[in-house]
Amino acid sequence: MRIFLFFLALPFVLVGELFDPVALFLTWQSDPQTTMTVVWITKEKEDEILLQWREAESACWHSINGTTQKMPGDLPYLVHQAEIKDLKPGSDTVFRIGEAGVSRKFRTLPKDLTKAVRFVVGGDIYHDDLELVEKTNRQAAKTNPYFAIQGGDLAYAAARRGEASTNKNLRWIEWLKLWKETMITTDGYVIALIPTIGNHDVNGRFNQTPEQAPFFYTLFPFPGKKGCNVLDSGDYLSLIVLDSHHSHPIYGTQSRWLYQTLEKRKDVQHTFAAYHIPAFPVVHRYNKAISRFIRRYWVPSFEKFQLAAAFENHEHAYKRSLPLKKGKAVPSGTLYLGGGCWGVEKPRKVKRASYLAKALPIRHFILVTLKDDKREFVAITPEGEVFDRF
Ligand SMILES: [Fe+2]
Repeated sequence: MRIFLFFLALPFVLVGELFDPVALFLTWQSDPQTTMTVVWITKEKEDEILLQWREAESACWHSINGTTQKMPGDLPYLVHQAEIKDLKPGSDTVFRIGEAGVSRKFRTLPKDLTKAVRFVVGGDIYHDDLELVEKTNRQAAKTNPYFAIQGGDLAYAAARRGEASTNKNLRWIEWLKLWKETMITTDGYVIALIPTIGNHDVNGRFNQTPEQAPFFYTLFPFPGKKGCNVLDSGDYLSLIVLDSHHSHPIYGTQSRWLYQTLEKRKDVQHTFAAYHIPAFPVVHRYNKAISRFIRRYWVPSFEKFQLAAAFENHEHAYKRSLPLKKGKAVPSGTLYLGGGCWGVEKPRKVKRASYLAKALPIRHFILVTLKDDKREFVAITPEGEVFDRF
């Protein structure tokens, strides 16, 4: 009997001894088929900078020391980042923080779309209670996506224009702690996070610099302080992440970069853009300044190079536009999708507009499935109800 009890207790003892950082997420800075960036947060006193990984079928561990930065806002935490390179496309990797760390696994994107690739999208995350975020996270994770785009207004912690700071900085830790615990697929893969900057992630909200978004740029190596960036997965997927006038202007460098980036990718099968403020609103006025800027400086490039879809946020509602080109619905037009209602308790009233195919005040995320040359968009509530499919 004693022996039985000993073995029963053993796994719990071992688990208790393994190191697990306060928060952890995966993201990409370069090729999602061959690299993965691991970001982990430790308390100042339990600093652990070693990242170890091995191919799933191998017993041989590799090690790399992460770079370390202090968490902004005088929070007693450290942010560590390390990029794993030279992985095989579509392969499984096991990793841990420190030699005595909890083992987790991830997968790289496959080299083509003969098998479906899925990802989820949504914005306006930690607006109300963390329980709302948890519910949407868990439902999104159940769809087994490779990655999740989080379209801005992540922790709702930044100060308004004129305010020196807020006392909300711990919300970043709370959100990312929950991310570590919930954004895991049903078969155990950690889901990568692709962040987009929103007005509530920047002190001053609009027309600021990266220095006014210290948490966003300390935590996330991508999209980086130059603002705009792109992830390419072979010739089947390009994902462009843009800054809708929060820490970089919409026009000038960013709009020129967007044109050139899309031009170079005109033969890519599926191209998407993600940013926070909508070009085609479903709640706010059509002629608000930022929406006008996006329609003037970005939309012509989207249309010229036939961007498949732009994921928009900020409005706390759901919308799907018609496929638009020069204000008309055409089959080769660009879709404007979303509305930012991942963790918002009270979705906002929607309006009618000639460019909208569907509009609802509803909490949701969008599941995107790519298979060969086909793409499907499904809008899902935190309860798992599908309410739009395109
Ligand atoms: Fe917003």
